[in-house]
Amino acid sequence: MIRLGVNIDHVATLRNARGESYPSPVQAAAFAELGGADNITCHLREDRRHIRDADVELLKRTIQVPLNFEIAATDEMVRIASSTKPHAVTLVPEKRQELTTEGGLDLSQSSKKLGDQIHALRDLGIVVSLFVEPDVKDMIAAKKLGAQAIEIHSGHYCRAMQDARTTAEQLALLKPLQEAARVAHDQGLQVHVGHGLNYSQAHWMQLVPHLEEANIGHAIVARAIYVGLTQAVREMKALLNDPQFRPSVGG
Ligand code: PXP
Repeated sequence: MIRLGVNIDHVATLRNARGESYPSPVQAAAFAELGGADNITCHLREDRRHIRDADVELLKRTIQVPLNFEIAATDEMVRIASSTKPHAVTLVPEKRQELTTEGGLDLSQSSKKLGDQIHALRDLGIVVSLFVEPDVKDMIAAKKLGAQAIEIHSGHYCRAMQDARTTAEQLALLKPLQEAARVAHDQGLQVHVGHGLNYSQAHWMQLVPHLEEANIGHAIVARAIYVGLTQAVREMKALLNDPQFRPSVGG
């Protein structure tokens, strides 16, 4: 089964847009759990544009499923993660001006500092995942740094899927994700994926070998406006796991 991590950042974005106390990302997490969310994911950005420190504390105390805490690899964020002690930390690159995370971590110059941060979090019993591009050398670098999991950045894949018209094109786009997943698994890393997945392509993730978890936010929160969050989560989980939605690619 592919676990679904529901990212509730966008609920906080809506709350903050009017400076109100609603909608609450913490209440949203409870509805997501009712729909079958396996994890709740939130990203505490350095500029606190959506999730706030108090949200993280409340989420940790109230959700029944594991918390996946996304953070930039800064001293401040590692300190907050160390005191929150979520089930998992996903380290992501962060730029102030970006609308959302634009790419995976640059692991080309393996930094001692990043390795130390990973080990410090692991020592607290936290599972450490690195958000990386679907690039084989990053899988190897992630393992060397001490990560236990990688989250493959699917953003570019999702963009390209918008223009793919034939099954051959769709399959070709999936190849790098499949290859990265195979190598990561061979290295002993848990394989996660995330970013940009929506209701028109998430079912393709059924063809990614060894995939254990998908983290999805924007599409689920957007669909929740029409059908409610519980139903939106239920539908996404089915796309990821129900054999009836597995792409039929012949051969
Ligand atoms: N995974 C990571 C590492 C992310 O930064 C994000 C966006 O916050 C997501 C998953 C979810 O992306 P989306 O909102 O496009 O589903």
